[in-house]
Amino acid sequence: MLYLDNSSTTKTNKEVMSTVVSVMENYWGNPSSLHELGVLSEKVVKQSRKIISDFLQVTPEEVYFTSGGTESNNIFIHGVLEEYKGRGNHIITTKTEHPAVVEVIKSFEEKGWRVSWLDVDEFGLISLEELKREVSSETVLTTIMHVNNETGTIQPVEEAAKIVKEASRSLFFSDGVQGFMKVPINLEKSKIDGYSISGHKINGPKGIGALYISKKVRLKPFLLGGGQERGYRSGTENVPGIAGLAKAVQIYKDDYLSFLETGKKKKILFAEKLKENIPEIKINSFLNDKGSPYILNCSLPGIRGETILHSLEENQIYVSTGSACSGKDKSYSHVLRAMNLDERYLMGTIRISMALGSWPDKSETLYFIQKLKETWERLGSG
Ligand SMILES: Cc1ncc(COP(=O)(O)O)c(C=O)c1O
Repeated sequence: MLYLDNSSTTKTNKEVMSTVVSVMENYWGNPSSLHELGVLSEKVVKQSRKIISDFLQVTPEEVYFTSGGTESNNIFIHGVLEEYKGRGNHIITTKTEHPAVVEVIKSFEEKGWRVSWLDVDEFGLISLEELKREVSSETVLTTIMHVNNETGTIQPVEEAAKIVKEASRSLFFSDGVQGFMKVPINLEKSKIDGYSISGHKINGPKGIGALYISKKVRLKPFLLGGGQERGYRSGTENVPGIAGLAKAVQIYKDDYLSFLETGKKKKILFAEKLKENIPEIKINSFLNDKGSPYILNCSLPGIRGETILHSLEENQIYVSTGSACSGKDKSYSHVLRAMNLDERYLMGTIRISMALGSWPDKSETLYFIQKLKETWERLGSG
């Protein structure tokens, strides 16, 4: 099996699984309980928070556990817009955000907020000049994703946050789900106020994530209840998931930068081989430092991405046609549309995505290309 759909989800690491099981067996108390069993569970949560905050170079008090990237994005965006609505009614975001941002922003747009949807270039990159033009004293929130889930485009979020802060009182959020542990970011030194992460994109468990909230920011809580996570995320903590997420961070934290470097080279080689064997292929992702080495988006003209996906699947090769979250939606990707991808290529897009340190080796690469080429020759116009 060749699993190349890691932006959708990754296979859980075995050590992470053991940690989850062990916490379920030994630390099943409610962290809010005052007795010993609660205290033991609370300790697991505390240690896990410290591991994640150390990696992000922020304080433990600035890390909040959630059920994943979607919830983290919702909590921050809702929380800021409700808390600071007295400051204005303008939001800035981009045309290529994940639905877990797009839909939240649209819901505020429907309520009357003015939204600037930033354009992107042919590789999905925003223009900082356009951002400078859009930001105003009315801007309450600017939300720009770190790494795009379909193309791997890395937005210059640290620079963008600086620009926004120099020109306004706007808070700055970044959906970091595809960037976390894959592409470095300096939350300590940057002007970013919020950053979301998700466990299942880094070989951790599903249904667990975290949200960095700068101590300078106050949020109106989105979920109301028992007041867990200092009031920002009520609900009994997912202690095994939290421990599993922290374990994944522990496992990969020392190697992630070297994975990044080898990944860059492997992605270039992979793309070159693709081009060499299938000249009609169009690479939609950056192959330089502006793109994550974990995601390669490409298209073939006049064939459906879904047809390619199912043909590869017959050989136990798994890719995606876009992002999994919108994979069942039959309309074409809003990201590739924003990049002005030609209609002929739009339909024939596939996304190849890797997990931490897992680019295919030479024989896997050749096998993949051979099967893709066969598909193209059999079903495409090649
Ligand atoms: C960029 C991005 N943001 C948010 C999410 C949602 O994360 P989760 O599945 O943890 O809710 C995803 C998942 O694909 C993503 O890629």
